[in-house]
Amino acid sequence: EKITISVIKADIGGWPGHSRVHPQLVETAEEVLAKAQEEGTIIDFYVATCGDDLQLIMTHKKGVDSSEIHGLAWRTFEEATKVAKELGLYGAGQDLLKDAFSGNVRGMGPGVAEMEITLRKSEPIVTFHMDKTEPGAFNLPIFRMFADPFNTAGLVIDPNMHMGFRFEVWDIKEHKRVILNTPEEIYDLLALIGAKSRYVIKRVFPKEGHKIAKDEPVAVISTEKLYEIAGEYVGKDDPVAIVRAQSGLPALGEVLEPFAFPHLVSGWMRGSHNGPIMPVPMHQANPTRFDGPPRVVALGWQISPEGKLVGPVDLFDDPAFDGARQKAVEIAEYMRRHGPFEPHRLPMEDMEYTTLPGVLEKLKDRFEPVE
Ligand code: 13P
Ligand code: 13P
Ligand code: MG
Ligand code: MG
Ligand code: MG
Ligand code: MG
Ligand code: MG
Repeated sequence: EKITISVIKADIGGWPGHSRVHPQLVETAEEVLAKAQEEGTIIDFYVATCGDDLQLIMTHKKGVDSSEIHGLAWRTFEEATKVAKELGLYGAGQDLLKDAFSGNVRGMGPGVAEMEITLRKSEPIVTFHMDKTEPGAFNLPIFRMFADPFNTAGLVIDPNMHMGFRFEVWDIKEHKRVILNTPEEIYDLLALIGAKSRYVIKRVFPKEGHKIAKDEPVAVISTEKLYEIAGEYVGKDDPVAIVRAQSGLPALGEVLEPFAFPHLVSGWMRGSHNGPIMPVPMHQANPTRFDGPPRVVALGWQISPEGKLVGPVDLFDDPAFDGARQKAVEIAEYMRRHGPFEPHRLPMEDMEYTTLPGVLEKLKDRFEPVE
């Protein structure tokens, strides 16, 4: 029998500004989900936070895209939004972009990563939670986990993963997808996913012959684009991901290793700047400097045979990641010195909002031809 793991998240109000989630929102979400657990809708749950984003981690038997589970998440966010409004939190209900729930939270504002899986004898997973960035921020680390032999020793030395993996990549502008095989098509894959604002890894699958069936995902990433739904800037998408580990998949340490390098991601202040992503434990996921720098939290779990979430283990709560955090501080300092200049500020087409049309309009009569 299969178990579904759903991570559904939304920013429904920041405390203060866009920095963190107020504890009363977590309590409210816990109350709603505890009731759903009693009623048997979900098997287990955990409410996490990353910056100003509230993260619902749930296990159940209803499959992906279940209207019951999505409806539960939507109701949870609505209840917590009421509290956010009472407290006057910033941007209360920010990511609930539609007034009425219509069967699926996709396209309504919240971010979703879900996978339905046949539990292995032991099922270690990691849920990743990012704030102040966009789904493409996962391209580099997911590539490294499942396709880079300099990151993942198992690709070279474990006969159970030596054949490589399949990557499902979405073109989020054209709404198309393509599946690429690694290692054979690594260069094609990189040609796409290096353009991280347009091509994003949605899922990773095993290949034929792997211990895990080839249609069962081993990693999944939320790829919602708030901007496209709302038609205007309402915050970056602050993505989440679920990654399975061990026995024929990257070992836990291979799943975490990419984050020892705080790579540059788009987001940060006003969703319009490049900055380093800092791996932190949950209690340090409170972006403040220039509303950042962007953060990533990794929670480790074992899924019990009944589908219970045994965890979380706050995986970046480890001095081995102090160096990455320090490096992120240095890079943040360096990038900030550029002020309003690219490449700290995003290129025009990727900015979440801009005054440029207004400035051009004001100056239009003062522009004159040059020979
Ligand atoms: P497994 O094959 O048991 O996943 O071993 C890999 C490992 O844990 C080494 O780091
Ligand atoms: P969030 O996407 O986390 O709400 O941040 C919005 C923002 O503009 C921060 O400066
Ligand atoms: Mg948000
Ligand atoms: Mg916010
Ligand atoms: Mg956020
Ligand atoms: Mg956001
Ligand atoms: Mg082992």
